[in-house]
Amino acid sequence: MSKHGKFQSSRSRSLQIIERTVGIGVEEGVLWRTSSSSASRHVCVANEPFLNFGTCSYLGLHIRPELMNGAIDAIQRFGTQFSSSRVYNACNLYSELESGLEQMTGRSVAVAASTTLLHMAAIPVLVGDTDLVIIDQFAHASLHMAAELLGNTNVVRIRHSHMQKLELMIQEFADRHERIWYIADGLYSMRGDFAPFDELSVLLDRYPKLHVYLDDAHSTGWYGECGRGAALSHLPNTERVAVALSLAKSFSAAGGALAMATPELKEKNLPFWGNNVFFRPYPATDAGCRGCLGETTSFTRASYSSGESAQQDRIHS
Ligand SMILES: Cc1ncc(COP(=O)(O)O)c(C=O)c1O
Repeated sequence: MSKHGKFQSSRSRSLQIIERTVGIGVEEGVLWRTSSSSASRHVCVANEPFLNFGTCSYLGLHIRPELMNGAIDAIQRFGTQFSSSRVYNACNLYSELESGLEQMTGRSVAVAASTTLLHMAAIPVLVGDTDLVIIDQFAHASLHMAAELLGNTNVVRIRHSHMQKLELMIQEFADRHERIWYIADGLYSMRGDFAPFDELSVLLDRYPKLHVYLDDAHSTGWYGECGRGAALSHLPNTERVAVALSLAKSFSAAGGALAMATPELKEKNLPFWGNNVFFRPYPATDAGCRGCLGETTSFTRASYSSGESAQQDRIHS
């Protein structure tokens, strides 16, 4: 069966599962609900306030005046949109946001309009035709979508977080491929477990052909020093590691950002990203929310130095 054939059949299986699960949720009255406000810890559903445990705004920053004022200020400067491809004319808030994220992560960072668009733009540029991609079965759907764009590259799925199998595959395929990419989540959104960072670090050290691309959307902002997330906290800072961050969860803005080891990597890859040329730009209003950088940075720096990092390390192990 061809690579695309395999993806094709698993896509129809996924659609069946989604249809069945969503159908049950709708029957039970817990899905496809609408809210008339969420400007507090509560969400208003059918005119009744409920405490909101279903939010990804993990630090509750979406109701902080600093962020709301940042977005309003951006609207006053740029209007409701800055509708121009970044390669042509970029809103200056993007570079301010990126340099803030660089301070936060200690890496070179480039933003994209969403984490999904980031994967779709960055993965086909980073991964070459002669590489092999090994993707975790439970990696976020957006990563699987991006992997489908890799026309000539071999893509195989691997059992969830199975590092022994990954090592065997690296040993088996290293001779036949220029690089071997392991694509996975840093913190799995549906299962709540972290990627096996320690084992991955050992494999990175042992196999120079191994490259890692992790989607760390769910631990961006609240985990690790300055909120840089679990992957950047636990994996080595090498050119063979790229970490996708989300600005749409704890950050309480929108969009995604890729953290890379060096400015050269960013400069080399950025011009080829589809989102800088063909897609809509990163919203100026969300760049205006960069005030949250101070918030997440000071929150996590304070908690880091007060010993919560030890607790985070326990979560990780
Ligand atoms: C792990 C992960 N990656 C990517 C996304 C997609 O992010 P975006 O909506 O910014 O494309 C999500 C969901 O929101 C997610 O949970």
